[in-house]
Amino acid sequence: MAKLWSGRFAKESSKLLDEFNASLPFDKELYKEDIQGSIAHAKMLAKQGILTEDEKNSIIEGLKQIEKEIEEDTFVWDIGDEDIHMAIEKRLTQLIGDAGKKLHTARSRNDQVATDFRLYVQKQNREFMELLKKLIATFVTIAKEHKSTLLPGMTHLQHAQPISFAYHMLAYASMFKRDFERFASSFERNNYSPLGCAALAGTPHNIDREYTAKELGFNAPTINCLDTVSDRDFALEILFNIATMMMHISRLAEELILWSSYEFRFITISDEYATGSSIMPQKKNPDVPELLRAKTGRAYGNLMGLLTVMKGLPLAYNKDMQEDKEGVFDSVKHAKISLEILDAVLRAMRVNKEQMEKAAKIGHLTATDLADYLVEKVGVPFREAHFITGKAVALAEQMGKDISDLTYDELYSIDERIASDVLEYLNLRNSMNARNSYGATSEEQVAKQIAYFEDFLRKA
Ligand code: ARG
Repeated sequence: MAKLWSGRFAKESSKLLDEFNASLPFDKELYKEDIQGSIAHAKMLAKQGILTEDEKNSIIEGLKQIEKEIEEDTFVWDIGDEDIHMAIEKRLTQLIGDAGKKLHTARSRNDQVATDFRLYVQKQNREFMELLKKLIATFVTIAKEHKSTLLPGMTHLQHAQPISFAYHMLAYASMFKRDFERFASSFERNNYSPLGCAALAGTPHNIDREYTAKELGFNAPTINCLDTVSDRDFALEILFNIATMMMHISRLAEELILWSSYEFRFITISDEYATGSSIMPQKKNPDVPELLRAKTGRAYGNLMGLLTVMKGLPLAYNKDMQEDKEGVFDSVKHAKISLEILDAVLRAMRVNKEQMEKAAKIGHLTATDLADYLVEKVGVPFREAHFITGKAVALAEQMGKDISDLTYDELYSIDERIASDVLEYLNLRNSMNARNSYGATSEEQVAKQIAYFEDFLRKA
């Protein structure tokens, strides 16, 4: 069948061209947004006297019929239609005749695709915000149960200072809250309507862009049409926001993998979310966090892909930009299921408190507390305190125990200025609670952090 744009062409296009040129196989994902945009456009054209009421009504009826056909899978997809915009327009004309041919007045596929894609991305921004709220709530729930659960806090993956498991979970709540804010600010920045920009220069028809913007839930129309039809920043932003979020997910995934190993045993992943080995009957593998860690790769790739497509493009629309969609669909799809399964894994995992606390007894986590004690209570200069503490560590090592298990007599044997209140300083939980500065790991500070995230969740 002849193309909608075939007026100036003498020969039919080749099959190979159809296959190479078409975006229909993937942009059919935008059918809802395309219909939504067309309905708003038709209403506006009628309001402006460009379409009659009858024409508008039959267009809307036809579009709703098409939506139903697509949803019921009776719509006939023809790659020769090139993209979702022309597939729907062709079918509309089949259904309602000449009125269908008037729908494209004062519009181009350039502003149409920019509108559809932006509507899609805005919807996804909202959905990511909801999923992130759910995940943050999960961290808060776990934190509430583990304010006094000790864990060896690490730097360089080496035991450093005692912290609580709640504190560790709230570090992730902080990261995902920033992710939430990125999706929210992208939504705000991009909430402007491209519809009515037409090909690149606007239109001589008396249209009302304010009206279509409001109809579609945008704040207002965009200010410069030349920019609008060539702008894909909104798509780059969601790709970046997803890439950063996946990077956060991959860090937590890595910790879940380590923690569920025999070496750590800090957590046990629930059977529902673990997998077995086809050969080793004893194995229980952390496939879910491993896949979460890996999916970061495609998220970065999709971002780099679109940045590269957009680089160096002259104004305004170029067909290169048709390559903007698949990467976004892919990132969105994988990031959403990642968020959902991560939340489920966290909610179902067992936290092995005793094992964490046992690990906190390895590596002399309270050595800094002994040095602090010597400075504060004994008045020793820090360098000397550091040296004395080193001797206490050596003694503990010699005796095969942790510094927090040294007796008062043993400590006294190292330096006679040490009094018996030193034992309070060396106690792991006291050490954690001593870190009571704003934002620190003490139970008091963690309670404030929990209240902060609860407040955020109430208002977000
Ligand atoms: N399928 C195209 C895309 O996804 C729609 C816009 C085409 N516009 C054009 N003038 N060829 O970018």
